[in-house]
Amino acid sequence: MIINQLLISSLLFLSVQAIPRGLLDRRVPPDFKRDPGRQRGCGTLISPDRADDLENQFQGLKPPPSLFLAVNHSTPAVIPVYWHAIAENKTAEGGWIPKHQLKLQMDVMNADYNSTGIQFHHVSTTRVINKLWFRNVTLNDEDQLELPMKKRLRRGDAGTLNIYTVSFQNDGTLGFAAYPADYNQYSVYDGIVIRYTTLPGNPTPPYNLGRTLTHETGHWLGLYHTFQGESCDGPGDYVDDTPQHSVENFGCPSSVDTCVGGGDDPIHNFMDYTDDDCMNQFTLGQTDRLKDQIRTFRNITV
Ligand SMILES: *[C@@H]1O[C@H](CO)[C@@H](O)[C@H](O)[C@H]1NC(C)=O
Ligand SMILES: *[C@@H]1O[C@H](CO)[C@@H](O)[C@H](O)[C@H]1NC(C)=O
Ligand SMILES: *[C@@H]1O[C@H](CO)[C@@H](O)[C@H](O)[C@H]1NC(C)=O
Ligand SMILES: *[C@@H]1O[C@H](CO)[C@@H](O)[C@H](O)[C@H]1NC(C)=O
Ligand SMILES: [Zn+2]
Repeated sequence: MIINQLLISSLLFLSVQAIPRGLLDRRVPPDFKRDPGRQRGCGTLISPDRADDLENQFQGLKPPPSLFLAVNHSTPAVIPVYWHAIAENKTAEGGWIPKHQLKLQMDVMNADYNSTGIQFHHVSTTRVINKLWFRNVTLNDEDQLELPMKKRLRRGDAGTLNIYTVSFQNDGTLGFAAYPADYNQYSVYDGIVIRYTTLPGNPTPPYNLGRTLTHETGHWLGLYHTFQGESCDGPGDYVDDTPQHSVENFGCPSSVDTCVGGGDDPIHNFMDYTDDDCMNQFTLGQTDRLKDQIRTFRNITV
């Protein structure tokens, strides 16, 4: 009995050690499992306990605002972007994203981030024909393809955004991202993986206006979902001016209020789960948070 328990706990210990901690948070949202394809399937989920750990770390490391008094806020901070388009053949359906779509996507990103003082500069596009990566890279990395893909392609440092496009076999996953606080330990995993059909110029609504990248980049810059914690109590998304809500919103509801007090759910916020044409804002609180996050963990002066 005791030996069994020891065995089980050491096995658990081993398996926990073997999987990078950042990966444990990529669970498939329950709603998304029930209805794949229809609802926004962002895989960047984090448990309240882990969010709490990261928050303590963040508050301890955060540099004082006085260090940034000399930053000229009329000049945006520019983040270099390396795009890695994984394809199975040289057609648009096969993942070979046309250049004009990449341009449209970067324009959407820069417009969406305009109010934050952050801009993105697309440095280069690497195109790779790899049918297995294109089809089988997944949210939970069952086939263990994400690591070799990123090991081979990743460029730059903590302040560089690497974007990978794959198909997720159109299983409903739209994308997932790595948090700034995980950079030190899991730098090779850093970046964003999104479904290639989410770029502007693709014909199928409601996730075809490029907001998947805006949303995942929000995570990459240190923001959580506005419904983080899925409760009306607790710290929520650690941002004061996003009304707390306990359930994610889909589509574009006319008005919803899942938690009493604090105002209606922020259905137009880029960090909820609503449709691309419903999202149009970051709050000032989110802007402050993402700046502090990237000062702390990505060495970006903003
Ligand atoms: C800040 O940047 C703006 C726009 O680039 C420039 O016009 C202005 O002179 C700068 N201000 C200072 C104090 O450097
Ligand atoms: C390219 O890949 C796509 C996606 O699987 C497929 O639909 C298409 O038939 C392929 N085209 C060619 C020319 O192989
Ligand atoms: C950001 O907004 C300002 C002021 O509205 C505008 O002049 C500028 O062109 C915008 N930049 C982008 C990248 O959208
Ligand atoms: C790729 O994914 C398919 C469908 O899920 C699976 O059947 C196949 O075994 C995977 N291939 C590899 C090499 O992992
Ligand atoms: Zn998300």
